[in-house]
Amino acid sequence: MVKMKKSIASYALASILCLAGSAGAMAQDKTAEAAKTERYKPNNELIVAIEPANGQNPAEVELGKKLFFDPRLSRSGFISCNSCHNLGMGGSDNLPTSIGHNWQEGPINSPTVLNSSLNFVQFWDGRAANLREQAGGPIANPLEMASSHDLVVNILESIPQYKEEFKQVYGTDSITIDEVTKALAVFEETLVTPNAPFDRWLKGDENAINDQELRGYLTFKNSGCVACHNGANAGGTSFQKMGVIEPYVTDNESAGRAGVTGKDVDRMMFKVPTLRNVELTYPYFHDGAANTLAEAVNIMGRLQLGRKFADNEIEDIVAFLKTLTGDQPRFEMPILPPSSDLTPRAKPFE
Ligand code: HEC
Ligand code: HEC
Repeated sequence: MVKMKKSIASYALASILCLAGSAGAMAQDKTAEAAKTERYKPNNELIVAIEPANGQNPAEVELGKKLFFDPRLSRSGFISCNSCHNLGMGGSDNLPTSIGHNWQEGPINSPTVLNSSLNFVQFWDGRAANLREQAGGPIANPLEMASSHDLVVNILESIPQYKEEFKQVYGTDSITIDEVTKALAVFEETLVTPNAPFDRWLKGDENAINDQELRGYLTFKNSGCVACHNGANAGGTSFQKMGVIEPYVTDNESAGRAGVTGKDVDRMMFKVPTLRNVELTYPYFHDGAANTLAEAVNIMGRLQLGRKFADNEIEDIVAFLKTLTGDQPRFEMPILPPSSDLTPRAKPFE
């Protein structure tokens, strides 16, 4: 708060100096210099830069990538992880809630898989501790891929090229569901998005973000957003209540963390979502009810902080949020190994 006031004061000061300086070019130069040196520089910020992925076994990543794109992990033979976490669309489906098996309406907005390895737990309610634990969920979820772990293992076992690849990576003769979820998780660990303009600014490239974006960041920081949206993922470090100051009104039935703990105090507590690539992952909130970033920022200000932002403040914060879009993962589309005569066939319409 104090810092915010100071920076508004220094902007005002700079513009007064500017008017006074119009008398002489020398004075103007000095003013420009002063304005430059007064630009806020990173100083132990609570959001930290994302580092590129490394250390993953390339063969395991390649196998996990195939599985991520393989619709045979679903009962219909039509839905892959990429259906709801489209890597061409920020790792999300851009729908309010996902469409699952038999065109069923999913209960909740699909979070991005980008940088999900940086979250302290997985899912909105944190019911999976990590990516390996998470990956088993959607395969067997009747509302999502509606398959079973046994069926998936049978299918993969019947495909010679997969058998060969699993053997190469894990050294085992038969495929297990644990190997499937491990390969998926290792691939997901590579889906990080370093090098966002904001990260470049954090690392000392002053010009990586413009004045409006910097102003937006300082408003974000000084008004308290960063208390919940912090760390490398600008989120994903804690559970917090949706509707701290004012309750959040929604038709969505999710109880949040209470669904896991059974405790009433955990109602409407959600894992704070990442703001990385948030420009790409609309619509927003667990119910997908906010269509635009401006709407989401306005709601966050009022409900979480009791603060009604002016339009220009919202524009600044949105400009800042867009500086969190990093380098999207780039790779070749995997060519999936063909089924064999023995492969159980998909059942799309039952
Ligand atoms: C039918 C759509 C759908 C499919 C298919 C799907 N997901 Fe998801 N995914 C979701 C939804 C919705 C959530 C949020 C569920 C929740 O929090 O209760 C989610 C959550 C996740 C998360 C947690 C992210 C976070 O920040 O909490 C990860 C990781 C993930 N999915 C990976 C996968 C993988 C890997 C597959 C394939 C095996 C997959 N998903 C298949 C819709 C889908
Ligand atoms: C008290 C903790 C807290 C504070 C403070 C907070 N947020 Fe959030 N934020 C959350 C939680 C929890 C959610 C998820 C809410 C939901 O989905 O129902 C969220 C969601 C969001 C989303 C939507 C992300 C998505 O992918 O759905 C945006 C954007 C956002 N916050 C921006 C902000 C901004 C900007 C501020 C400051 C004005 C702010 N937040 C302050 C906890 C907080």
